[in-house]
Amino acid sequence: MNSINRKKQDLDWGNLGFTYQKTDYRFVASWKDGAWSEGENITGEVMAIHEGSPSLHYAQQCFEGMKAQTTKDGSVLLFRPELNSRRMNETARRLMMPEVPEALFMKGVDEAVRMNYSWIPPYGSGAALYIRPLLIGTGENLGLRPATQYEFRVFVSPVGPYYKGGGLSVIKLAVTNYDRAAPLGTGHVKAGANYAGGLLSTKSAQDLGANEALYLDAAERKYLDEAGSANILLAMKGNRFVTPDSKAILPSVTRRAIMDLAKDELGLQTESRPVELEKELKDIEEMAACGTAAVISPVGKIWFKDQWHSFYGAGEKVGPVMLKLYDMLTQIQKGERDDPYGWTKPVAFD
Ligand code: PLP
Ligand code: COI
Repeated sequence: MNSINRKKQDLDWGNLGFTYQKTDYRFVASWKDGAWSEGENITGEVMAIHEGSPSLHYAQQCFEGMKAQTTKDGSVLLFRPELNSRRMNETARRLMMPEVPEALFMKGVDEAVRMNYSWIPPYGSGAALYIRPLLIGTGENLGLRPATQYEFRVFVSPVGPYYKGGGLSVIKLAVTNYDRAAPLGTGHVKAGANYAGGLLSTKSAQDLGANEALYLDAAERKYLDEAGSANILLAMKGNRFVTPDSKAILPSVTRRAIMDLAKDELGLQTESRPVELEKELKDIEEMAACGTAAVISPVGKIWFKDQWHSFYGAGEKVGPVMLKLYDMLTQIQKGERDDPYGWTKPVAFD
């Protein structure tokens, strides 16, 4: 049994970016002949897999993203991890991979956080421990068929804000000439292939001066889908709080929580429905992107139909609705606010 290093790493916690930082341990389990191994903590960050692995050729792989946060009293909280487990299994079914039993998923997440205690950012640093579970098809193969072996791995990395500018800085999104996902494709699951297909779109958006791409539905290019790595939230005229509904977007854990807070705590009329961007632009008062990495990132401007459109404060300021939601969400995640929903789950260290 490996012992846990209790001494925090000497990092500039307040100035971390969203980058990979090698930590001490990762949890690994393998699937073969219809069964999962019990899994173990290992130190090596480099994987050796067969050159014919279906994850390498045919993108038979998926991942999840979660965060662990330190509270004032030093405990460490996960945020709705069971939803990530469920989503990984929805993705696994869509990509014909074996499901990871919830108990194994939770064990992997708990172990990866616990064994890397020294890398968990301290309370008040503004940083978090990002948790990356992944499931990949391995083993010898050539033709287009599901893998015969799989690896489930969980590694962690301390991270700061996802978007340049950090924290609650106002970002820009751009609608480019590329689609993300077809209505009956894989947009609703967390397949790595969705992200490879988005790299060029992100680059096009960044060339226009935006932080990342904003996608419309691929069938008609009329309705809002989501951003490259986050769902979209809209505070609209008439106290309405809207999130685009689409078959092709990833069901965000963060968005589900924010919709509940908007309804229960702010008394807004919440709606999840298709949003025809051009028609509804004039009614949008505040826009934000939300996700584990993005948290709530206010969107000041979007590039759409060859021009910039601004929201709250001429696109330069954080609006009051998104600010309140950001505060409430992050306070719950850090244990600073009551959690009547039971969203947070402490990691056991003994
Ligand atoms: N949409 C996409 C495409 C994402 O990659 C993510 C990030 O995981 C999200 C939305 C937000 O999902 P969650 O809040 O579960 O992190
Ligand atoms: C997350 O928010 O956890 C994601 O997976 C997005 C990723 C592109 C960083």
